[in-house]
Formats: sequence, structure tokens, C-alpha cells
Amino acid sequence: MGETYGYDWSVKSMSLPKRCDWIKNPDIRPYVFLRKDNRVKEPGSFLKNCDWFSHLDVLKRDPLSMTEEHFGKLILELDRLAFKKSDMPMPGWVFYDCGLIPGVVSGFAYRTEKLPESLKKVFSPELLKTDWTPISLFIAIPCVNRNEWVAHNLTSINSLVEKKEDKLYGLGFLSKAFGLWYENIEKLCGMTQWVSPALKLHANYGDFEVLTAYTPVHSHAETMTYRCSLSFEAWQRFFLKTQNPNFLKENEAIKDFTLDVKNTESLKTLQKRIESTDVKYFLKPDQVRQGVEDEPLSIYQRL
Ligand SMILES: CC(C)(COP(=O)(O)OP(=O)(O)OC[C@H]1O[C@@H](n2cnc3c(N)ncnc32)[C@H](O)[C@@H]1OP(=O)(O)O)[C@@H](O)C(=O)NCCC(=O)NCCS
Repeated sequence: MGETYGYDWSVKSMSLPKRCDWIKNPDIRPYVFLRKDNRVKEPGSFLKNCDWFSHLDVLKRDPLSMTEEHFGKLILELDRLAFKKSDMPMPGWVFYDCGLIPGVVSGFAYRTEKLPESLKKVFSPELLKTDWTPISLFIAIPCVNRNEWVAHNLTSINSLVEKKEDKLYGLGFLSKAFGLWYENIEKLCGMTQWVSPALKLHANYGDFEVLTAYTPVHSHAETMTYRCSLSFEAWQRFFLKTQNPNFLKENEAIKDFTLDVKNTESLKTLQKRIESTDVKYFLKPDQVRQGVEDEPLSIYQRL
């Protein structure tokens, strides 16, 4: 089974590691910022074996209501601050037109009057005008192919908190997991930059297929596009830091190529390969978890 990393096996009702105990804090709740017409009928009915969220009291906010102006603006502010460095903050119209109207915005929120100083100081005081303050966001939008969704954004306040001990460990990973669980998503596409630390998270929600390795129509060509078949076992392995025992029984590394994610020509070589064949290419989740920048990255295909 490998190392347990603080996994408390005695807490049968919730198989999360102790480092994620913040989720049990009644002043932290998952939220959905979702217009009424898009309501999900039976949240959690696809990943039924996931025991992380079903007992939590979900905060439901309506983005079409004027009373939610401050909640929405805090989400945008969180995104603006987190994406400032990569120059990809989301304009309000993208948030509304591409996220809130067609999709689901979700995450975790902290009761404002109980916000610890380390989180509070991320926001300008004049913005903290609502009872609950969003501290993460995940946006998922349904695709034309009704079986698939696209992950449009993931942000966690942890990226803006200086001291490690003040961070809520797993907030980013669990925010995405909660949205996927709540919305009953089975297959998820998404985009991320090869050098983004978020890749470590994205690759660990299930089988991780590479749809593009080099993406010139994106404003950052060194973006990769992925498709993921979601599995709760993969989510648990993220926290346990264990490998999928079946991965090498089902996949083999291609022998004549490894990827150098910092080399554009290498990305283009893989992209050409993807375009020239029907073969599906995958990354090994635990290898991505260890970081992709320093070592050549193996690319796998099904056996
Ligand atoms: C990427 C992001 C969502 C991760 O959320 P988070 O709450 O910090 O991460 P979690 O606590 O859920 O994940 C924990 C793991 O990710 C790792 N991690 C998180 N941020 C990291 C970083 N900047 N560099 C390296 N590792 C990082 C942690 O070290 C930890 O791994 P470990 O258990 O091996 O120590 C967050 O950093 C963020 O909002 N970044 C800015 C916006 C962004 O880039 N979004 C992704 C767009 S695709």
C-alpha cells in the first residue's frame, strides 16, 4: 500500500488524510454558484463511492441575483490575484458568459467573520462584504459532446498565502474534486501549461490522455489539452501518493520518444505524432505528480 501520509484509516466515514481536516470545520463549506435552470438533479450520483462530500452542507448561490454581487466579485478577485503572474486573469464577461451561464462555478467558502488573518489579508477589506468568502474556484462547462465537460478554471487561495502552515492542504485538488463529484462528471477535458504546477493536480483524477501537446491557437502555445476519465480511486491515490497498480498492466511507454516539456520542438514532435495516428497517448499520473520539468517524460499507449 505504500506510505499512508497521515491517512487516518480509523475515520471510515471520510477517507481523507488528516492534513485535510479543515474540511470538517463548520466555518468552511463547499459552494455552488449556479443558476437555477442549471441545477444538478442528484449531486454525487456518478462517483457514488466517494465519501468526501456527501455529508457536507453545500452553500447554494444564484449568480443571477443582485444580492450575490459581492460573492461573485470576490471570486473574480481571487482569480485576478492568482493569475496575475501568468497574465491570464479572467475578465468578468468570460466568468459570466462562459462560466456562470452555461456551466457550474464551485469551490469552498469561509465564513467571513471567522476568516483567519492569513487568508483575510489576501483581499482588500472593502471587498469582504458578504457572509461567506470564496477561497477557491473551479469552473466546469458541458461540451457539445454531451458525455464530456471542460474544466475552464481552477484557483485556490493557497497560491496567495505566504506561510506553508497557513495553507489549507489539498484545497485546490479538493475544489476540483468537489465540482466533478457534484456535477456527476464522467469525462473531463481541460487545458494547462506544461510548466504549470497545476498539471500535478490535473493528472491525478483518472486516466490522463494527451489531446494536444502543442496548441498554437491558444494564447500560450505551450499549453497541453487533456481528457480524463474520472475515478475516485485515482483521487485517493493523490493523497496516498501511491501508484495505480494496473497502470503498467494496461499501458506501455513508447520506446522511441520521451517528452522534454521545456522544449517547443519536443512538444511539436509529440503533437505531430498525435495528429498522424488514432493511437491515444497517456501520461502516468504518479510520474506527473513528481514534476515534469526536470526529467524526460514518458508517454504511454494502451497495450
Ligand atoms: C494550482 C493550484 C490550483 C493548486 O492549488 P493548491 O491548493 O495550492 O494545491 P493543493 O493543496 O490542492 O495540492 C497540494 C499539492 O500540490 C502541490 N503544489 C501546489 N502548488 C504548487 C506549486 N506552486 N508548485 C509546486 N507544487 C505545488 C503541493 O506541493 C502539494 O503536493 P505535495 O502533497 O506533494 O506537497 C493553485 O496553486 C493556484 O490557484 N494557482 C494559481 C492559478 C493556477 O495556476 N491555476 C491552474 C490553472 S490550470
